Amino acid sequence: MTSSAPVDPTDEAAVEAAAAAAVAAIEGAASLDALAAVRRDHAGDRSPLALANRAIAGLDPHDKAAAGRRVGGARARVAAAATEREEVLRAERDQAVLATERIDVTLPTDRYPTGGRHPIRAITDRICDVFTAMGWGVAEGPEVEAEWLNFDALNFPPDHPAREMQDTLYVASRANEYDAAPGEAGSGSPARTGSGLVLRTHTSPVQIRAMLERTPPIYVICPGRVFRDDALDATHTPVFHQVEGLAVDRGLTMEHLKGTLDHLARAMFGPDSKTRLRPSFFPFTEPSAEMDVYFPDKKGGPGWVEWGGCGMVDPNVLTACGLDPAEYTGFAFGMGIERTLQFRHSVPDMRDMIEGDVRFTAAFSSEI
Ligand code: DAH
Repeated sequence: MTSSAPVDPTDEAAVEAAAAAAVAAIEGAASLDALAAVRRDHAGDRSPLALANRAIAGLDPHDKAAAGRRVGGARARVAAAATEREEVLRAERDQAVLATERIDVTLPTDRYPTGGRHPIRAITDRICDVFTAMGWGVAEGPEVEAEWLNFDALNFPPDHPAREMQDTLYVASRANEYDAAPGEAGSGSPARTGSGLVLRTHTSPVQIRAMLERTPPIYVICPGRVFRDDALDATHTPVFHQVEGLAVDRGLTMEHLKGTLDHLARAMFGPDSKTRLRPSFFPFTEPSAEMDVYFPDKKGGPGWVEWGGCGMVDPNVLTACGLDPAEYTGFAFGMGIERTLQFRHSVPDMRDMIEGDVRFTAAFSSEI
């Protein structure tokens, strides 16, 4: 409905009738949408009362005041009725929404536990982060590795007992580009086995790959899985992880090695941590050292723990990789990740790290 019958602003009854019609329509509006339409018709610019209000301007001056009060009062009542009705309708609407969108917080939920990274992965990433922050690269190599890279290029003589000491698992067929049958193009030293392949016993062959594939300066950190013919017990596992570091540049000395290791120790074990080197032997480093790390835990222990091996890259290794030992020197180090996790987090039994029981890994899933 719009302004059908014009309302005379001087006609009290007509104004009252228009106001009553408006209030009745407002009270009859059953929804907010209906109320909006009623408002347009009865209180909008073209509603009878609005038109009556406009007509006041054309009245005799002495009629104006009374008509103004009359029409103004009527419009005010209509507006108040509309506001009141709107509040009621809004409250009803909100109630309805609350009722239909009600959430029963006592209902059982579908729980999808979010996974956490395995602590081995997390601690490996943390070590890599320490080095990438210094501009080192991350290098990886295959787990099925050429025996030449796993031993020979690392200066293990053919009959070196280390080949036995490391309880090597030999592979029966060939699988990668560094491998070739003895005498074939690309073959390294004559393979001791038919395949010339081993499951790598350490991450040190990645050093060789890095030196063959890159030109100095080389700064790489090499995390990875390694394999030995060991039985699984609390302190041994046939499959475990190491991280290897290699730096080859002009003028590198053991001081650079020591400084790097101390930095890693502090990053991993806190500002009071440090490392110490004990003379040792590895075929691929000269001099070589065992490295211990010191870190006081909350109770004052555990003090010094053996962490890994290290040394200056043996000139024979540089030569095997086509680098001139007169021009370049290098340092290298390697440590076991499971072991690191064991003493960093007091995990007495390594088997917990491989069994995949989420109750173990969940404890590490946020931050280690
Ligand atoms: N590859 C050695 C092992 O598995 C660890 C190691 C020792 C790595 C000395 C190094 C190193 O890079 O310089 O026992």
